[in-house]
Amino acid sequence: MTTALITGANKGIGFETARQLAARGMTVLMAARDKDLGQAAADTLKAEGAQAHFVHLDVTDEDSIARAAEWIDSEFGSLDILINNAAITGGLDGDGKPSSTALATLRRVYETNVFGVVAVTNAMLPLLRRAEAARIVNVSSEVSSLEIVMNPDGHMWQLVGLPYPSSKTALNMVTAMYAKELWNTPIKINAANPGYCATDLNHNSGFRTPAEGAEPSVHLATLPQDGPSGELWGYQWDSAGGYGRLPW
Ligand SMILES: NC(=O)c1ccc[n+]([C@@H]2O[C@H](COP(=O)([O-])OP(=O)(O)OC[C@H]3O[C@@H](n4cnc5c(N)ncnc54)[C@H](OP(=O)(O)O)[C@@H]3O)[C@@H](O)[C@H]2O)c1
Repeated sequence: MTTALITGANKGIGFETARQLAARGMTVLMAARDKDLGQAAADTLKAEGAQAHFVHLDVTDEDSIARAAEWIDSEFGSLDILINNAAITGGLDGDGKPSSTALATLRRVYETNVFGVVAVTNAMLPLLRRAEAARIVNVSSEVSSLEIVMNPDGHMWQLVGLPYPSSKTALNMVTAMYAKELWNTPIKINAANPGYCATDLNHNSGFRTPAEGAEPSVHLATLPQDGPSGELWGYQWDSAGGYGRLPW
């Protein structure tokens, strides 16, 4: 049995990631901070024939993370795949420019998008180390890439915002550092770029489906042993941009 824990699995890309991993025969542990929404999401996949379980987990609440790890330990004894998918944008303060951004917003976004990932990863690592060859996926974004965002001729030049993009850049370094720590182990950790997908995160303005957005996470979660570690991988902005490794 292959077990996969997905944070923020009650909707959007996280839900579709759980659905796609379940379709490959995995047991999906669908983590959500809202019990009703999480249970409903797991019930939906169960009705489709999936081995799905709801796990109560708020990535900003260390007690809930510890309880989730204890439950997985008692039920399964190990964990094969961790997808750190949960994230928030924090919304816009004023015109959304760095000079208008409230520190409280920045802290709130980092609590979820950066510190939450570290907290969940560290809590789950003992279980991941017990798996034969675990995979960790940190769901990042194209807006994390300094090379892409700082290209004056590129489509991201108009983006001037602080909390969400910088949190995802920090997440990339978090990914790189875990990759180095885990370099001589069977565990691989990579960052995924889902592309611009229609979800609640962006008021459904994206031009890809959440199911498409789940594909990079599924790809990185199922890498063979000679696959990469410590990379940012997924969709470029549009189909012409391709699908592959992105610059940090
Ligand atoms: N959509 C895009 O175009 C796009 C592009 C690039 C990257 N991404 C990334 O893709 C991932 C999934 O985003 P999405 O588009 O699917 O957004 P979404 O529909 O807003 O889903 C976000 C999920 O994260 C959960 N979440 C937020 N804070 C949490 C917390 N403290 N603890 C546990 N769960 C929490 C949400 O739970 P609630 O329902 O309780 O709020 C929800 O399940 C994110 O990492 C996002 O940054 C998305």
